[in-house]
Amino acid sequence: MSLLLLLLLGLLTLILCVLRGRKRRAGEPPLIKGWIPFIGKALEFGHDAHTFLEEHKKKFGDIFTVRIAGKYMTFIMDPLLYPNVIKHGRQLDFHEFANKVSPGTFGYPPVISVKFPGMQEQIKRSFQLLQGDNLSTLTESMMGNLMLVFRQDHLCDGPREEGGWRSGSMYEFCNSVMFEATFLTMYGRPQAASRHGGMGVLREDFVRFDNMFPLLIAQMPIWLLGQTKAIREKLINYFLPHRMSCWSDTSQFIRMRSELLDQYDTLRDVDKAAHHFAILWASVGNTVPASFWVMYYLVSHPDALQVVRQELHDALRLAGVEFSQDRDVTLGKDQLEKLVYLESAINESLRLSSASMNIRVVQEDFSLRLDGECSVAVRKGDVIALYPQSMHMDPEIYKEPQSFRLDRFIQDGTMKTDFYKDGQKLKYYLMPFGSGSSMCPGRYFAVNEIKQFLCLLLLYFDLQLDEDQSRVSLDNSRAGLGILLPATDVRFRYRLQV
Ligand code: HEM
Repeated sequence: MSLLLLLLLGLLTLILCVLRGRKRRAGEPPLIKGWIPFIGKALEFGHDAHTFLEEHKKKFGDIFTVRIAGKYMTFIMDPLLYPNVIKHGRQLDFHEFANKVSPGTFGYPPVISVKFPGMQEQIKRSFQLLQGDNLSTLTESMMGNLMLVFRQDHLCDGPREEGGWRSGSMYEFCNSVMFEATFLTMYGRPQAASRHGGMGVLREDFVRFDNMFPLLIAQMPIWLLGQTKAIREKLINYFLPHRMSCWSDTSQFIRMRSELLDQYDTLRDVDKAAHHFAILWASVGNTVPASFWVMYYLVSHPDALQVVRQELHDALRLAGVEFSQDRDVTLGKDQLEKLVYLESAINESLRLSSASMNIRVVQEDFSLRLDGECSVAVRKGDVIALYPQSMHMDPEIYKEPQSFRLDRFIQDGTMKTDFYKDGQKLKYYLMPFGSGSSMCPGRYFAVNEIKQFLCLLLLYFDLQLDEDQSRVSLDNSRAGLGILLPATDVRFRYRLQV
């Protein structure tokens, strides 16, 4: 009997050892496994990633490995070491990770597959249509679409309070304007109308899907998430080829993607539609909260708002444009580039609100050299992670990092690029758009469209926050995935400037 008990105990210990996972090898960073087999530190990390990482940095230094939901993730916390991670494109790969999580999230088959030869490369090439000369065309189109939505929804007559004020919820306002104007710019409009019917419902469905986005990216099976599968199907169906072929003024970027998807007989119509839906998420999922934060910080700092408004009027005057509320404004790429205070406000808002994690999967066991003296051994299949929010909130790099400072990114009238840590100039100091091979291809368009949105707000409206509202905090539920949403919406008032 006692022998059986001993055997059982032995077996149990063996199972626990296997479940507890690996041992730290020579040259590897400190290893933090947590006491729960498999799960490791996933719950603590998921609860508040920023605080978790800061506490572990204090205890274990700038490089440490954490077991999170069965994965071993090595965090590199010192931004001076980032360049050496980012440049290791071959041994530290991003697309393997994306290829694994995107299909489960958006519902299309994995791109890197023998079924779709060359597709990954063609998709990468399509991203060029978001930049260079095409950026001017996209920016111009966005301006027209923003004007359209502003005119029809906010500049028209409607119920007003005393003094001509209208009330609104700021996030809802940004969402309705930016979602629709970006949609029209990317996908075009129906042939016989300037706007799509049912945009409100599409947006509501999108928000419901988006609320589940962190769980989908964490590879939670969609059938466990209530209505999410049905909502995703509805969203995907919006982009079925027979519907999209009836739209006009579709951007060259989306047209090229449709053509490249059509080359693959192995793709069903619904798969093609799922690819288009993924681009909708990429183009508004972060842009809407980013627009909110810039608007919120400017409206809650009236002095800063006044500086940006003045800069805008000066730029229009210099360009010989006489602003009148009756005529549509055009602010092209070249004019937008001159708005350095507005750009600094955007950078500062992105610094305060972004929490994207840069992930790379190790392709082989090797020694990762991080600087002259420091190398760490890393294992095939492990994840190397950069968490730039820690850098964005580092008081040595950004004095009083919690506060919004309009001129944080301005030096001698141009954009400031000198930021230091330990007396050394940082190559990477602001990373809301990721880095290296996975850097956001839509970043120039995103900044331009946020600028255009803010310019229209400042040209047309007086803006005020309603009184007696506490400072809005960040909702951490999508930490690691991009721009954080506000924990609550903000009430504000706007009226046409006289
Ligand atoms: C403020 C707005 C935006 C932010 C903060 C942002 C951020 C990011 C980040 C961090 C990534 C990299 C993801 C990773 O490394 O895992 C990314 C990828 C991407 N973004 Fe953006 N983005 C924004 C707007 C846009 C817009 C407007 C578009 C398109 C019009 C766009 C298109 C994409 C695409 C297609 C990818 C995937 C790139 C790839 O697979 O290599 N983004 N974005």
